[in-house]
Amino acid sequence: MTARAGLAGRAYAARDVFEAETADVLRRGWLCIGRTDEIAAPGDYLTLDLCGEPLLTVRGDDGVARVFANLCRHRSSPVAEGSGHARRFVCPYHAWSYGRDGALLSAPRMPREAIADLCLPRHRAEEWRGFLYVNLDGAAPALAPRLDALAGRVDPYAPGDFRTFHTGEKVWAANWKAVVENFLEAYHLSVVHTKTLHDYTPTALARKFDGGGAFTGYCANYPDRAAPRGRGAPGLSEAERRRSTLFCVYPCHLVSQAASLQASFCLIPEGPGRTRVRWSLASYGDEMDEATKAQRIALWSAVNEEDRARLEATQRGIASRFADAGPLAPEHLEGVIADFHDFLYAGQENRA
Ligand code: FES
Ligand SMILES: [Fe+2]
Repeated sequence: MTARAGLAGRAYAARDVFEAETADVLRRGWLCIGRTDEIAAPGDYLTLDLCGEPLLTVRGDDGVARVFANLCRHRSSPVAEGSGHARRFVCPYHAWSYGRDGALLSAPRMPREAIADLCLPRHRAEEWRGFLYVNLDGAAPALAPRLDALAGRVDPYAPGDFRTFHTGEKVWAANWKAVVENFLEAYHLSVVHTKTLHDYTPTALARKFDGGGAFTGYCANYPDRAAPRGRGAPGLSEAERRRSTLFCVYPCHLVSQAASLQASFCLIPEGPGRTRVRWSLASYGDEMDEATKAQRIALWSAVNEEDRARLEATQRGIASRFADAGPLAPEHLEGVIADFHDFLYAGQENRA
């Protein structure tokens, strides 16, 4: 049987491909902003730029997390920077102020009739299993119904009962699709992560599961000799406790769900060879003590550096004129990449 081919280097390196993807895939999809408990209390907020759109995400007094365009209705200055907690958002340019629900509260020296009913523009957002997603073009089909089959796998872990204990952010000099593919494929685990992951999630025990139109993933099973990794939710089977479930909610939200630890990576593609990676670690309830949390942060930081180094080196190869599409490894190892490409190029005959 002929192996399925991956993508040629141009798909990861060309500016025009990246711009087409931004318009056709990223802006039309559901992009994960982060875990909802990153903004747990009313007034908690965070800002980020996604596909050229400045966003302000804030939890309102009614408990709803809303995603606004982070731009003042006067002359478009951002009204907030970074993250934190705010009673209201005062634009630093001419001091118009907005409530946690986005409504304009006051505008110094402005006639009332000029500012009546103004509020921050609002994006469509959806929460799913403790994550917050935004759709920039406002026209994507609802997310949750398209993740039903994935929910069946994830729900036994009770992801809503996880608590974020670490967040990090770094720019990787790699294409966003390469970051997705690297996260999804188990082929590299025993090679790139020899010292960090191999003893727990060796390549040989990876088992892909069926994806859907909105996700794909695989189970990274632990060897019998591996020590238990925590108990997690009470309803978990022993098999579920002895594996990590890694998945991608298309286009670019990556999650590793295990009994007591969840790692999440929200990708922010910034250019053909540049991806901002926002990541978080969350633990089940208060099962993990501080020393274990510190150990997990150190482990995942090391894993991330191993992946980043390999992807940044690969990005240099990808730019070569010899970077043709290579054959993908068998189903359980790189079938996830084939799924991802089917999603990216659904209905298209010509790939990049
Ligand atoms: S741009 Fe915000 S008050 Fe002028
Ligand atoms: Fe990796």
